[in-house]
Amino acid sequence: LPVPSVQAMVAATGGADVPPRYLRPEAAAEDVVAADGEAEIPVIDLQRLLDSGDEEEESARLHQACQEWGFFQLINHGVPHEVMEGMKAMVEGFFELPAETKKQFAQEPGQLDGYGQLFVVSEDQKLDWADILFLHTQPPQLRNMRFWPDKPATFRWTLDRYSAAVKNIADRLLAIMSNNLGLEAGVIAEKCVGGVQAVRMNYYPPCAEAHKVVGFAPHSDSDLLTLVLQVNEVQGLQIKRNDRWIPVKPAEGAFVVNVGDVLEILTNGRYRSIEHRAMINTEKERMSVAAFHSPSVHATIGPLTEILAAHEEAPLYKTVDHESFMKLFFSAKLEGKSFLQRM
Ligand code: SIN
Ligand code: FE2
Repeated sequence: LPVPSVQAMVAATGGADVPPRYLRPEAAAEDVVAADGEAEIPVIDLQRLLDSGDEEEESARLHQACQEWGFFQLINHGVPHEVMEGMKAMVEGFFELPAETKKQFAQEPGQLDGYGQLFVVSEDQKLDWADILFLHTQPPQLRNMRFWPDKPATFRWTLDRYSAAVKNIADRLLAIMSNNLGLEAGVIAEKCVGGVQAVRMNYYPPCAEAHKVVGFAPHSDSDLLTLVLQVNEVQGLQIKRNDRWIPVKPAEGAFVVNVGDVLEILTNGRYRSIEHRAMINTEKERMSVAAFHSPSVHATIGPLTEILAAHEEAPLYKTVDHESFMKLFFSAKLEGKSFLQRM
């Protein structure tokens, strides 16, 4: 169902007079704690994870972050400054294009890729205060170039380069996590051979009544591992912890990384896929880029037998093939739930 661009709506109205479909009174009612000291998500240093000398200590910190938080910031990740800055400039450049130009890349019915909104299925569904551009990026044969903008002129090669760099980091992290879980390095990574990466570029316009709307409604990610790049200085990501929302303050140049539902399932609940949401600023637009890493379409999804055996545990989740997994995913999403509640 086509939904108007929030950016265009705000350009026309200044963001006042929020249409009822965007109002989420429940969001304002919940507690948000200030992110200070203890309440900040762990910071993990990729260089320390790889360097001889520090890797044991840093790996233990990573393991703990995945078990206790499901979220961490990744610093010293080695993606060149120029690749990070190029991506930010490209995303800003795309959303700055005239509405008519962006519309050329609008989603089409039944497809995820393109410019628009995700999962709009009914007239009375509540809407997020955001426009997005969603694209499959890896493996390259999954790219639908029909939806890859050729403006700004740098778009395609910038995304190509960024996507490869981020996939490389996700693969490295998953190999270290395998090791931390007592698995052979390849066990989780094997699920990702031919694994899928999709990138979601988010544009959150300001809203004069920001406390009444939500940029990205509470959800957990369905993938293995998500890496989020904060494009401009405006914050908005919050994670749920002990029944309260904690704002995330991304460090300059860091990725915010989170465990997705599939990694929670594979680890039989050891690593946690945490609910999170994006909130809106009253005056400033916000932009971010989430890169999702999912298993190959041939992988079965269920608790790893190696983990169940090592800990003498019963599986907490069913094992399903990829097709059933996607069905569960979409039916759960339509009800605004994580599919973990369906497994
Ligand atoms: C998300 O991907 O869940 C939100 C990303 C963000 O805008 O920080
Ligand atoms: Fe998310």
